[in-house]
Amino acid sequence: MNSIENLKNIENKIIILRLDLNVPIHDGKIIDTSRIDKIIPTLNFLLKKKAKIIIISHIGRPNGKKIKELSLEPVSLCVESMIKKKVSLLKENIFNLNKNNIFINSKDGIVLLENIRFYPEEETNDDEFSKKLASLGDIYVNDAFSCSHRDHASISKITKYISSYSGIQINTEINALKRITSEIKKPVTCIIGGSKISSKINIIKNLIPKFNNIIIVGAMANNIFKYKGIKIGNSVYEKNIGSAIQEIFSYADKNMCKIIFPIDVKVGKKLIDRSIEKEIFDIEDDDIILDVGSKTLTEIKKIIDNSSTILWNGPLGYFENENFSLGSSEVAKYIADKNEKIFSVIGGGDTVAVINSLNIKNKFNFVSTAGGAFLEYLEGKDLPGIKALS
Ligand code: 3PG
Repeated sequence: MNSIENLKNIENKIIILRLDLNVPIHDGKIIDTSRIDKIIPTLNFLLKKKAKIIIISHIGRPNGKKIKELSLEPVSLCVESMIKKKVSLLKENIFNLNKNNIFINSKDGIVLLENIRFYPEEETNDDEFSKKLASLGDIYVNDAFSCSHRDHASISKITKYISSYSGIQINTEINALKRITSEIKKPVTCIIGGSKISSKINIIKNLIPKFNNIIIVGAMANNIFKYKGIKIGNSVYEKNIGSAIQEIFSYADKNMCKIIFPIDVKVGKKLIDRSIEKEIFDIEDDDIILDVGSKTLTEIKKIIDNSSTILWNGPLGYFENENFSLGSSEVAKYIADKNEKIFSVIGGGDTVAVINSLNIKNKFNFVSTAGGAFLEYLEGKDLPGIKALS
């Protein structure tokens, strides 16, 4: 990919910058600014080079309709306060804009187009719309890794009509992901948790040939217990998943990848309950498995000690109830304490929520804010937005 950082002279050039400013907003207030914080270096870089900037982003899923609550207005105000420059939100129809009038009312040379998904043409990857977007600037930059799994006009088709570059943030994200997919320092361990094993089977299969250990935790592990004939009481599990699990075990065997799952657990009778630690063979009919037990934690820590690279996606238990949050928080702190020795990549909304709650986000080498794009990359899929830049 051609990086924007390598371009020599961009003074007065109009940069069309695709960002992912899809942040959670409640009652007009942004609840988590992580995605905005991340792209501030890109904006400052372009401003320092005296480029003009047209920011494109989506927020939510308006399905091609204008929805007041999904306006980028709060985002423009937030970016404005962070970079201390006027960021003008352009609400006019994009088809009425042109290169010569777009900055007329913008004193600092930065405009933000209103939610690009208000236009149905965005998600249909429409050719004319992509051409129109491209006509507004001189250079296109994609700095939205977390949107790059979408084959949308402002992500992929636009690159057909304008010189296109990768941004600072997308480069950082891809370099970090390469270190857990293609340029791995071994031994490498994946800790994969969360509730649905079916949504992560393709990731596990893609990682098996490259990874030394895959630790399956969270409600996902219940499916393994079930497959092994271990009683899981009232715990959640997925039906018709046995053959996929069998495939995982035999594929792992062939590739000398160890699949590890809990040997003891913490249970409750309902989600809001105190926790009782049990051996995996002692689960009663009305027990719900909600966290890993202390022996399992000791095992996981030993594996972490012997790893040079760790990928962690998905909590170890029902961390929303603090009685069942110990597995996730212990593992988070243990990896964080080894940040000098281990290259660590963390991804997934719930996992990021765990490390945020412990205030240790900066102790990991890379924390991905991408949801679907992160998972698809780990599955080994080609992401349309990245392919378009290559
Ligand atoms: C995300 O939140 O993962 C990105 O902004 C992409 O959003 P989408 O899943 O609505 O395409």
